Amino acid sequence: MSAAAASYVLGSHAEERARLQRQHATWRDAMLASWDRAGFGPGQRLLDLGCGPGFASLELAERVGPGGQVLAIDNASAYLEHLEEQLRQGQAPQLRTLQHDLALAAAELHAATWDGAWCRWVAMFLPRLEPWVDLVSQALRPGGRLVLHEYVQWNTFGLYPQGRQLAVFVERCIQHWRDHGGDPDVAQRLPALLEARGFRLLHSSSLMACSPSDHPKARWLQDFLASYPAQLSAAGRWSPEEQAALEAELQLAQQQASLWVTPALVELVWERT
Ligand SMILES: C[S@@+](CC[C@H](N)C(=O)[O-])C[C@H]1O[C@@H](n2cnc3c(N)ncnc32)[C@H](O)[C@@H]1O
Repeated sequence: MSAAAASYVLGSHAEERARLQRQHATWRDAMLASWDRAGFGPGQRLLDLGCGPGFASLELAERVGPGGQVLAIDNASAYLEHLEEQLRQGQAPQLRTLQHDLALAAAELHAATWDGAWCRWVAMFLPRLEPWVDLVSQALRPGGRLVLHEYVQWNTFGLYPQGRQLAVFVERCIQHWRDHGGDPDVAQRLPALLEARGFRLLHSSSLMACSPSDHPKARWLQDFLASYPAQLSAAGRWSPEEQAALEAELQLAQQQASLWVTPALVELVWERT
């Protein structure tokens, strides 16, 4: 796949940015707990790889404080401009941005000087993982920590007992992302790649949830279902009839007891040896 074709499949428009903000709020506690586990703290130099609009980057900047440094990297100019606009308002002088395609050859990041890196929901979209893994392995100092929140098996996303059409939608999403060079099960491939570059696995856990309709994790899934079908439809991969069937299921799920199962998300904490 060419670099031009590798543009971010979910887009960087205002609605997606707002969804990412709500998503960040839903997963913020898990994120902070993972940073605690990795020992991210004051005075450190940390990377946010695939930072998006920077919701986590701003929190990383707060965590490292004025004596630390955060570099937020993404290739979507709209997201970086949003973050830079906040930085112009003086929110965090210790935070800088870098526009870089993580699937292309590594950027120069002052080798072996960074204390840690955070990366959430990014590797799954990269058509090539090696440049991204090389970048982080060169950037981190020995003992530096890499914290990942990525999916290990996206097709666990389900709604029970109602979600037959949802299962079709899930398969269609997976195919769409794979056709763009991504891998929604990317965490399956990370241990081999990281171990080969001198990383040691310190911690792994599941962040998967199974919730009733009114739980925040179920609302997060419903939020995705409120926006992404339109994008699949614009890509010619989702018909009005399929959407009508999905909406009927979602309505039923509001009236009956239901279980919302998230895509299998995992947390991995690695140490650069
Ligand atoms: C689902 S968003 C996650 C954003 C952020 N990490 C968060 O947790 O809110 C995925 C991000 O990956 C970025 N991304 C996708 N492909 C990329 C690439 N090849 N190089 C750099 N960033 C990329 C997108 O621009 C987007 O900001």
